[in-house]
Amino acid sequence: MRKKIVAGNWKMNKTLREAMDFAVSFQERSDELPGDVEVIIAPPSLYLASMEMIKEPAYRLASQNCSHHSYGAFTGEISAAMLADMNVGYSLVGHSERRTYFHETDELLAKKLDACFLHGVVPVFCCGEHLAEREAKRHFVTVLHQLEHALFHLSPSQMSRVIIAYEPVWAIGTGVTASTEQAQEMHAFIRSSIAGHFGRETADAVRILYGGSVNASNSAELFGCDDVDGGLVGGASLKVGDFITIVQSASRG
Ligand code: 13P
Repeated sequence: MRKKIVAGNWKMNKTLREAMDFAVSFQERSDELPGDVEVIIAPPSLYLASMEMIKEPAYRLASQNCSHHSYGAFTGEISAAMLADMNVGYSLVGHSERRTYFHETDELLAKKLDACFLHGVVPVFCCGEHLAEREAKRHFVTVLHQLEHALFHLSPSQMSRVIIAYEPVWAIGTGVTASTEQAQEMHAFIRSSIAGHFGRETADAVRILYGGSVNASNSAELFGCDDVDGGLVGGASLKVGDFITIVQSASRG
């Protein structure tokens, strides 16, 4: 059975003090966390080192982005090699804000995935369609294109370790979530597309998270869908209480 994951993407939010207050408070309340859910937090990169110093943290850390290069003259970039060296085990790859504001293409993201695997960082690959694409009934074509161009060059064993986050762009930060039917339909489509290329065993191992206006009131219903293996949470991951409620809602227990 696939272990559920709840990941928080803080985006460009919180001061260092606020980040550490969250980390300490989350740790103090860790007995409220279910044992059958993996928790990942992606703070701004500047805070990774401090958050890594919490003793036996109840969360694992992710970067919100990484370079496709391992080192060198790339001002402002952070590499997967550096993340691995700092015990940061995960990196978001291809979040829609990176695609939109920083013009990241699936071809570039394919190289970022390779860099992650080269250095032992687990990629959380984000995909999802814009509203106009859904309205034109092109959402499956769009997501399949993203999967094919960024992921289908991987080996089956690498693919089985990728975490996919389906985040319809129209649901991000809007307060509008996909319905459970829309989420389940797309997650099942993603899984069957992976099965078609890599085989059923690989597809069954891949965790597919839903993201887009997940909150403490709607998470249980979304995470209850067969092919939804947890969530990637933006705004609602910034408050300890809400985030803990969302993690609890992913538990089967
Ligand atoms: P919100 O949960 O704020 O809609 O953000 C979703 C997201 O982009 C997570 O990566």
